[in-house]
Amino acid sequence: MSDTTIESILHEQRLFQPAPEFSQGATVNSLAAYEELYAKAAADPAAFWGELAQQELHWFKPWKQVLDWSNPPFAKWFDGGKINISYNCLDRHLTTDRRNKPALVWEGEPGDSRTLTYFELHQEVCQMANTLLKLGVVKGDRVAIYMPMIPEAATAMLACARIGAVHTVIFGGFSAEAVRDRLNAGEVKLVITADGGWRKDAIVPLKLQVDNAIADSACPSVAKILVVQRTKQETAMVANRDHWWHEEQATASTDCPAAELDAEDLLFILYTSGSTGKPKGVVHTTGGYNLYTHMTTKWIFDIKDSDVYWCTADVGWITGHSYIVYGPLSNGATTVMYEGAPRPSNPGCFWDVIEKYKVTIFYTAPTAIRTFIKMGEEIPNTRDMSSLRLLGTVGEPINPEAWMWYHRVIGKERCPIVDTWWQTETGGIMITPLPGAIATKPGSATRPFPGIIADVVDLDGQPVPRNTGGYLVVRHPWPGMMRTVYGEPDRFCTTYWEHIAPIDGKYLYFAGDGARQDEDGYFWVMGRIDDVINVSGHRLGTMEVESALVSHPAVAEAAVVGKPDDLKGEEIVAFITLEHTFTASDALIKELKQHVGKEIGAIARPGDIRFTDSLPKTRSGKIMRRLLRTIAAGEEITGDTSTLEDRSVLDRLRQDT
Ligand code: WTA
Repeated sequence: MSDTTIESILHEQRLFQPAPEFSQGATVNSLAAYEELYAKAAADPAAFWGELAQQELHWFKPWKQVLDWSNPPFAKWFDGGKINISYNCLDRHLTTDRRNKPALVWEGEPGDSRTLTYFELHQEVCQMANTLLKLGVVKGDRVAIYMPMIPEAATAMLACARIGAVHTVIFGGFSAEAVRDRLNAGEVKLVITADGGWRKDAIVPLKLQVDNAIADSACPSVAKILVVQRTKQETAMVANRDHWWHEEQATASTDCPAAELDAEDLLFILYTSGSTGKPKGVVHTTGGYNLYTHMTTKWIFDIKDSDVYWCTADVGWITGHSYIVYGPLSNGATTVMYEGAPRPSNPGCFWDVIEKYKVTIFYTAPTAIRTFIKMGEEIPNTRDMSSLRLLGTVGEPINPEAWMWYHRVIGKERCPIVDTWWQTETGGIMITPLPGAIATKPGSATRPFPGIIADVVDLDGQPVPRNTGGYLVVRHPWPGMMRTVYGEPDRFCTTYWEHIAPIDGKYLYFAGDGARQDEDGYFWVMGRIDDVINVSGHRLGTMEVESALVSHPAVAEAAVVGKPDDLKGEEIVAFITLEHTFTASDALIKELKQHVGKEIGAIARPGDIRFTDSLPKTRSGKIMRRLLRTIAAGEEITGDTSTLEDRSVLDRLRQDT
């Protein structure tokens, strides 16, 4: 965030009470109701979650213990219970009025569309689950899903969940190299992909990227590829390894009973960036995740049977998992999926979708809102969006100006806004207004969800005074929490639970975000305190981008930092020293940007590359990123520079920029 944003957030005084019309119909309909739920959950979290799990979900067999926290930080929720999230998202709705209700409404990029009722989605999921079984997938196997935003992406997730296979969704914008890393890290047996996907008026050949990823036996675990036909261009298929989904579907049975899984069986692994090393495989399990995404969707989005709910995220990210697929379907809601993205050739596309499907709940990212502000309010103003009743944001702090625009232009000052703070690791939303209960302040995620004991502390774990910055932590386990880093339990402990040593045996979950609480107890999340850059709501680790850069022959050393950006929140700036035989040029900058795109994906491409003869380092050789951040932002260097090995580096860097 830029300083002007921080400044405006610090002085933000506006308070928006929930509209009485909204509160009247809301599930949690007053501040008192929220506070009662919150107090009840805090007094006995296990009893609170146990009661909800019983009321809200179908269990094949009850659990023995709601929470087992005897081996922290490794939690078990609903141990001994048998459940299936695909059953809870599909089968149980079929015996109700929801049987023929649209479950998934899909708007494709070149204008095609499709609606699947709960009955139809159930059939397709069963067919795909049977196909996976036929292709040799068994419970516990990892299945990668590398797909465009088409209904089959959701079908694939639910099909895996149905048979107890562990899915790992790889964002469709990732390169073949990034796909290869993830396939190997998860020892993936089968990949579900598509011939292609639409991205910005062009076809991305996804199947070809998978072929490239696994070429030369680079991914020995991958035995099968299931290919959905989407874009219909010529696609090479390897006999006995590659299978077309439409051909398999033609003969697959629509009957596939949901496996009775242990609550703690792995549901999915999702790779996300951290400050060190390669992306971490965040592990989520079945029962707790089902309950947490169900309850957060129900209370935060105030889901009703009449709602048409649309979250604009990609299923490649956690938001797509929890709030396009699992949370809404578990609640029996109608969830909209959109393949496209706003771009200059189609600046009104989001508003067209809202108008066409009479969307009532709209959940998007601050970066998208800022893009729309630039495009002008005339565009949304020409659409009929009177169906909207609730708005949400996720992914990064929202600056109050963008919040106010969203409130005025899209919400017509009628719709509450839920600014939801959470992470891949938390499984679901953690800090957020409940729209019928909590008054909002532009730029604040407001208060914790019932059952979430959040706090702002110093590095000793002591709460900091109100209106003082500190580290955002969670004091008690919650059902949606990640269980471990896949294959790296030590990394799970050091990254999330050991920055702040346990006090009296009590572990604090360390989120990696800076925050403060104001005089009303509202949380203001200020952004990452580690070397994670948030570009347009996408998390990228500096190390990942640096590794990609140094894999280019011209680069001797690279240091990557984030720089405040009006549109994207942050932009990647790379400082680079070259090998002697190379000289700096615009052509090389272009080449390096492309190289990062090839190594990771377009989202990781640096916005700015600066060459330098050396990087600022401590005497022990650690790059001082703090100084580079200041230089990248064009600000004066303040604070201690005494640990710097060679002070003249700073002067040269400043002259160069
Ligand atoms: C940031 C996305 C402020 C934060 C769901 C967090 C936010 C990271 C907000 C997680 C918000 C997400 N206000 N910051 N409402 N939502 N963040 O894992 O820095 O892709 O740690 O999960 O995004 O990103 P992730």
